[in-house]
Amino acid sequence: MFNLILFGPPGSGKGTQSDKLVAKYGLIHLSTGNLLREEITQKTPLGLEAKSFMDKGQLVPDEVVIGMIDSSLEKHKEATGFLFDGFPRNVAQACALDKLLDLKKTTINIVLALEVNQEELVKRLLNRGKTSGRSDDTNEEVIRKRFAVYIDETSPVAEHYKKVRKFQSIKGEGTVDEIFSSLCEAIDKKMK
Ligand code: AP5
Ligand code: MG
Repeated sequence: MFNLILFGPPGSGKGTQSDKLVAKYGLIHLSTGNLLREEITQKTPLGLEAKSFMDKGQLVPDEVVIGMIDSSLEKHKEATGFLFDGFPRNVAQACALDKLLDLKKTTINIVLALEVNQEELVKRLLNRGKTSGRSDDTNEEVIRKRFAVYIDETSPVAEHYKKVRKFQSIKGEGTVDEIFSSLCEAIDKKMK
């Protein structure tokens, strides 16, 4: 198996690059943000609970997202690998993921982190907010809150993977194709 985490702040291009990476490498795309938005669309109790956190730019409780990842892993027993997008988002989630993968006798092979400066991120998100229908993209205050949460809660996840030498930064500015090439280069090196 080959398991990859695409890491980076809100708007850094995780979703955009994930679509291209899963097409090229045949991985299963697990985006906790997308899974939560599906629950919201279907108006499930989980979706309703999650929405109140997402609209404020806060993290949804760990047990909710870890449970979703657990059932997704179970659902795709034949997968040759997973691409995690937007998960893990704090150290507790990273530890939970380690345990879940351990039980399946597999592990994270590489964490690729997209680096983009904050002003560019705000521009991208406000721009996407015009068409995405995502309520967390239209309000600059909520966008700033998402960055603050990223710095406080999510960035320590980098250390978790640096300790085991699985973490690699990738320049996330430039064209989508340029960034995709850098990601592929890092993955191909690791797959060899
Ligand atoms: P989530 O859906 O994960 O959102 P996010 O992390 O805030 O990131 P985005 O999806 O906004 O950005 P992205 O990096 O995917 O960038 P994209 O490719 O779209 O999470 C949303 C919420 O759900 C969280 O706030 C939280 O409440 C909850 N949640 C999710 N996971 C959770 C978890 N594990 N635990 C707890 N809570 C969780 O690109 C952005 C824009 O830029 C697009 O318009 C794109 O077209 C454009 N773009 C992309 N690449 C480029 C480029 N190279 N140049 C110019 N524009 C570009
Ligand atoms: Mg995304």
